[in-house]
Order: sequence, then C-alpha cells, then structure tokens
Amino acid sequence: MVTVRALRTKAGTEPITMLTAYDAPTARIVDEAGIDIILVGDSVGNTSLGHESTLPVTVDEMQSRTAAVVRATEDALVVADMPFLSFGVDEASSIENCGRMLKEANADAVKLESGPHTVELTKRLVQLGIPVMAHLGLTPQHVKEVGYSRQGTNRDSAREILELAKAHADAGAFSLVLEHVPSNVAKQVTDAIDIPTIGIGAGSDCDGQVLVIDDVIGMSQRTPPFAAQFGDVKSEMEKAVGAYRDAVESGEFPADEHSHVEDELDELY
Ligand code: KIV
Repeated sequence: MVTVRALRTKAGTEPITMLTAYDAPTARIVDEAGIDIILVGDSVGNTSLGHESTLPVTVDEMQSRTAAVVRATEDALVVADMPFLSFGVDEASSIENCGRMLKEANADAVKLESGPHTVELTKRLVQLGIPVMAHLGLTPQHVKEVGYSRQGTNRDSAREILELAKAHADAGAFSLVLEHVPSNVAKQVTDAIDIPTIGIGAGSDCDGQVLVIDDVIGMSQRTPPFAAQFGDVKSEMEKAVGAYRDAVESGEFPADEHSHVEDELDELY
C-alpha cells in the first residue's frame, strides 16, 4: 500500500504517478495499473457533472465520489480534493469538511488549492491528523480571477510560488501539486523543498506527474494544452453505443440467448 511516508521515500528515486478518478470502476483500473496516488479531483465538476468549472462542486459530492473510489482501491493513496469555499472561510468549517473526507469517505488525505490563506490551516489540519497535499500555480478555483492561464511567468509571481511552497512544506503538507507553471520554476521549487512535487503542466523535473483521467483516455470535451491523450475510450464507447442501437433497431438484440421462456406461462388466461 502507498502511504504518505512511502511517497517521501520514493520522491527523487522514481517518478510518482498520480491520476484522477471519480468512480469505483475507474479507480479499480487505475489502482490495478499501479498508479501511486488517486486524486478524487474537484475536476469531477467539469469531467462528469457537466459544469463549466469546478466552482459548483459540493462537499457532499466530493464525499460520495471519494467513498466510491476508496471502496475500489487496494493499494493507491486516495486524496480527496476540497471543493471551492469548503475550506479557508473559517477554521471550524474547514476542519469539519476536511475531516469528513477521512471519517466518512475513508480518504488518506485531502488536497487544498493553496495560497497565503492555507498555510495556518495546513498546519492545523496536519496537527489534527489530516494529511494535506498543497496545490500552487494555476488553481482552477480562482478561474473568475485569473482564468486558466499559466502562472509564475514573471519574477514576482514565480518567487511568490516558491515562498508559498516553502511555507506549505514547513506547515507540514506531505506533497505539492504544481499546475501550469514554467518548468524552470517547478525545478527550483522541487529543489528547494523536501516534500515531493507533483507536476501538471510543470515540466519533467517534478518528483511526479498528474493528469486528469478523462484527458488521458480521450473522454474530455476540452483538454488543456499540457495534457496528453494515451487512449481513445470515447471512440470505443461511440462504437459500442452505435452497435447496440443498430442491433435493437434491426431486431438482432435481444437474441434467444438473452431471453428465457417459462413453458407453464404460455397462456396466462
Ligand atoms: O481537480 C483536479 O483534477 C486537480 C488536478 C488537475 C491536479 O486538481
């Protein structure tokens, strides 16, 4: 089983692998493939719930999705993403919402889209026994402020990311996602902190990589420029659904082997 402690050991020796999953069948495939971390991302809002952004995703939805993923996972570390405004508003509700992911959904850790406002909260959660994955660079919950643009692209903003990374590592976060930042900035952050960095659109010098499963398997409506597709599940689904429709319309389905007859029920009246 992958543990928070094992991840620290792996960092720097072998790349850490992380993928999102939002349901049990997908989690089972990801886990059986030997992926180290399954992130139940709030990207579920875009990928599965039909929203334009992650902002409408609720704590109940994340709890339910995380519980489903945990039920299907044997080895990977399961991290529940905390949705917009479920943390950082006040300490009590932040702790309660993060705690639900461990108490009710049995997650191993939570991820917080991080900033200056999450340093103290990270410290508090870790003190209470809730492992925290930090997330800097592009944080999609700030879409209304910054869109989905690259972050850390000038000296001041790159330094701010570096300083926040150090602050979250000092606060006890066990790893850090770096999203859509220049690779040379990600490298300096990785070198400066002693917790693993996991990049998405952050180059190859991070300790690990993460992508959204829908992008990887070819199920996304829109993919970010840094994502890569490794399969075409959408085409396979289209073929299967089209074949089913044709078989029903032509009368080929259901065939005899899909039906059964009870002889004594031939004449009901
Ligand atoms: O919600 C998500 O899927 C994420 C990853 C892109 C890191 O936060």
